[in-house]
Amino acid sequence: MKRLVVLTGAGMSAESGLKTFREMGGLWEEYDVYEVASPTAWERDRELVLRFYNERRKLLLDSAPNRGHLILAELEDSFDVRIITQNVDDLHERAGSSRVLHLHGELRKSRSTVDPHLIYPIEGWELKEGDLCEKGSQLRPHVVWFGEPVPAIGEAAEMVQTADLFLVIGTSMNVYPAAGLISYVPGHAPIFIIDPNVVPVPDSSRITIIRKKAGEGLEEFMNITLNDA
Ligand code: OAD
Repeated sequence: MKRLVVLTGAGMSAESGLKTFREMGGLWEEYDVYEVASPTAWERDRELVLRFYNERRKLLLDSAPNRGHLILAELEDSFDVRIITQNVDDLHERAGSSRVLHLHGELRKSRSTVDPHLIYPIEGWELKEGDLCEKGSQLRPHVVWFGEPVPAIGEAAEMVQTADLFLVIGTSMNVYPAAGLISYVPGHAPIFIIDPNVVPVPDSSRITIIRKKAGEGLEEFMNITLNDA
């Protein structure tokens, strides 16, 4: 099977009712990113940071994978699909995708503040002040904050280098290092971009832009590529 490497962003989950970050009405219009998603924020006001992610988790538990997530799972019948997601939701997994690499962490997990290897599932929606790891330190959301390294980026870059096809869905390509992954796509691999808006990507004849939402765009992607799988 050909290997299809997919990079997804917040737009992938928009049709599940989860807000994107940088669009009008997006999360970073409502919140100052450094007040809720940075190590400084955690030092200054833990309650606020916990509340922000608890709210996100509550909405995630009330949402479901959309048609786009389901199509990506179905595509495993035809391609060796590897998903690299910037999303902290678990909608790819709930749709049935079996290989998902989370670049920015996972909302439904917590992590020790003294030992980053201690990662726990969060039951329900709430992570509270006073919830401790087995070494007795406060648990934090298992997400990457602004100013923090992205530990999975090396693995992601290696994965992109093995792509026969590369597909980008619902990301504004604003946040590095994730946005830089496109430069690792091998020269022979076609690139597809699904997004209803304009995304800053290099002008290249091997890039096909599908200017649609994730669900509709993936239907079109299937029509274009399945004969060729
Ligand atoms: P953005 O909010 O920057 O971009 C969302 C993209 O999704 C835009 O290009 C939209 O046009 C597109 N979009 C909107 N609705 C869509 C739909 N129904 N189908 C397909 N695309 C749609 O989100 P990201 O690029 O994911 O990081 O943001 C990257 C990172 O910035 C996030 O992972 C998060 C954020 O700060 C951290 O929290 C570390």
